[in-house]
Amino acid sequence: MKLLEPIEIKTMKLKNRIGLAPLANYPRNLDGTSNDLSIRWYEARAKGQVGFIMHGPARIGPAHIPSFKKLIDVIHSYGVKIGVQVVGGGPMSGQGPSSSPFPDASSAKLGLFEYQTGEIRPVRELSIEEIEKIEDDLAEATAHSKAAGFDCVELHCTHGAASLASAFVSPFYNRRTDKYGGSWENRLRFPVNVIRKMRQAVGDDYPLLVRISADNLLGKKGVTIEDTVNYVVPALEEAGVDCIDVSQGSMTHSTQGIILPMYYPRGCFIHLAEAVKKATRLPVIGVGRIVDMEMAERFLQEGKADIIFMGRQLTCDPETPKKFFEGRPEDIRKCIGCVLQVVQEGGNGICGRPCAINYDIQDHPIPLTPAEKPKKVLVVGSGVGGMEAARIAALRGHEVTLMEKDSELGGMVAALALTPLTAEFRNIIDYLATQMRKLDVDVRVCKEATAASVAKLNPDVVIVAAGSSLSMPDVTEGQPGVMDHIEAVKNWRMIGQRVVIWGLVAAELAISLAEQGKEVVMMGRGGEDTLAKDAPWSRRFYLFRRLTDANLVRESPEAMKMDNPEVLYNIEVEDITPEGIKIVNKDGKRRVLPYDTLIVSRERMANDSLFEELKATAPEVYKIGDCAEVADIKTAIWAANEVARKI
Ligand SMILES: Cc1cc2nc3c(=O)[nH]c(=O)nc-3n(C[C@H](O)[C@H](O)[C@H](O)COP(=O)(O)O)c2cc1C
Repeated sequence: MKLLEPIEIKTMKLKNRIGLAPLANYPRNLDGTSNDLSIRWYEARAKGQVGFIMHGPARIGPAHIPSFKKLIDVIHSYGVKIGVQVVGGGPMSGQGPSSSPFPDASSAKLGLFEYQTGEIRPVRELSIEEIEKIEDDLAEATAHSKAAGFDCVELHCTHGAASLASAFVSPFYNRRTDKYGGSWENRLRFPVNVIRKMRQAVGDDYPLLVRISADNLLGKKGVTIEDTVNYVVPALEEAGVDCIDVSQGSMTHSTQGIILPMYYPRGCFIHLAEAVKKATRLPVIGVGRIVDMEMAERFLQEGKADIIFMGRQLTCDPETPKKFFEGRPEDIRKCIGCVLQVVQEGGNGICGRPCAINYDIQDHPIPLTPAEKPKKVLVVGSGVGGMEAARIAALRGHEVTLMEKDSELGGMVAALALTPLTAEFRNIIDYLATQMRKLDVDVRVCKEATAASVAKLNPDVVIVAAGSSLSMPDVTEGQPGVMDHIEAVKNWRMIGQRVVIWGLVAAELAISLAEQGKEVVMMGRGGEDTLAKDAPWSRRFYLFRRLTDANLVRESPEAMKMDNPEVLYNIEVEDITPEGIKIVNKDGKRRVLPYDTLIVSRERMANDSLFEELKATAPEVYKIGDCAEVADIKTAIWAANEVARKI
């Protein structure tokens, strides 16, 4: 297996070729020093048998060194190497090569950042003295990182406005006319100087890596893969780096490219690593929505990269490599690419630890301990909340029964996974269903729970996870061709050619149907701000770009508005007739929308009556997930753990 072949980068010998990608959202003290939580975070990944960890960006000064030494010792005790990213803050942090990194700012919704915050931040142009000072500072931080014991240092020269080095390289952000701007040689001067100074600071043998955006995803206005191959890679190699880590995208103008949501295929920018690899003799790291180890192995076999980084997959399941190497890939909890945003205290939004399905991601999870007294636990409902509760209870040694009224497991999330654009939801269903089998949970499908059927089982604990149902407006009653969202996705082949979707949350369904050639109109009561309002902002941004005019820089390949579906806002429904659904907008304009299928996707209502019915059937009865509070996958998984870790 190629993944298990060691690889050397100067003095650093990696035991295998799978590594943790640099993530800014690692736990640390406010002063940047490492603490017990940082150790726990990285140690879990080292224990999970990665060969390499790239610590998130840190500017290490003398005061930080003792805390990092402690962390590094722990990581080394697993035979794992650890590097650290150094970064000079770019336009996103208010300083840049030139004062206007937004030359195309004709739209208020140019990039994700503006979209998220509604503000365009002023950026200050750096003087030559300031630039040289930053070059020196980065070299000094590199020396301190080496002194702390890091095995290598990676210069952050990626993601456009996210870092100064990347912004200098990109013609989009760098409008200078002095020796730091204009020609390729001039725009590359900053990273090249930094690397030379880093090299002077650490000596010839010490491994220095660089992370680049091989394609800014800004069309010809930014760095393209051809530019990377022709100019960037040769210059960095000449400057003395030892390995190139290939990312893509550009904060804030094509952020989507950096942390791709589930809508993009897995491993979809490995071709950039492949192109870089052809242009250099240096080892190359590939990354980007790589979720399965089989794919990682294949990319190595095909010579597309020498090392594979995973970011969110190792966030979601730190034991991914271990489980694969032990021959039990079915136990890997695969990332669903939900790009959930979790704002944490002291974080800036991106820097929460976002994962909807790994409860242990948080700083202070309730520990998973064997049950003091094994109990008979009945879980009612097999959605993600129900199955997660069953999994945790079984792991703790309880005797668990899972009752599901449907013929299949997975509830609403399993149904939503039938939509092509959100098919990755299937990952969590498959994982949990497999665990039901492996943990000997007594699964009973097509079994409706009633007070009588539950009492017969005589459980000590009942966990009600009965989910929610979609509300249907009265006007649809008795009308042909009407389905609710869940019925529709479960009966995909029954959906006709002309589709009207009532409800602005169902953007993923609308796009999926349009992509299959259906004529789709999506409409709802709210304004544009309510479009896909339940999706995390990074996913919403993609949906906006496909369904509205919120596009990026002109010429960008990311400008991708579709004409179909048509989206109508501020709509009231007046009637449904044989001609179609009669609507009126806020200006009083009427229209009839003919349809073959009308899909209703409006409010979800908690199925809480079952809880009332079962309340007296056992000494302990709980409700979790949508039937307790209509919310999202993360809320259901968290509630499941909070109950199942305590019983
Ligand atoms: C929460 C979060 C923080 C990140 N922070 C950084 C960072 O500080 N530096 C960096 O180069 N990349 C950063 N990235 C990008 C990742 O290193 C990685 O390239 C990206 O997530 C794609 O890999 P994945 O699909 O395996 O997650 C971050 C990604 C996430 C999800």
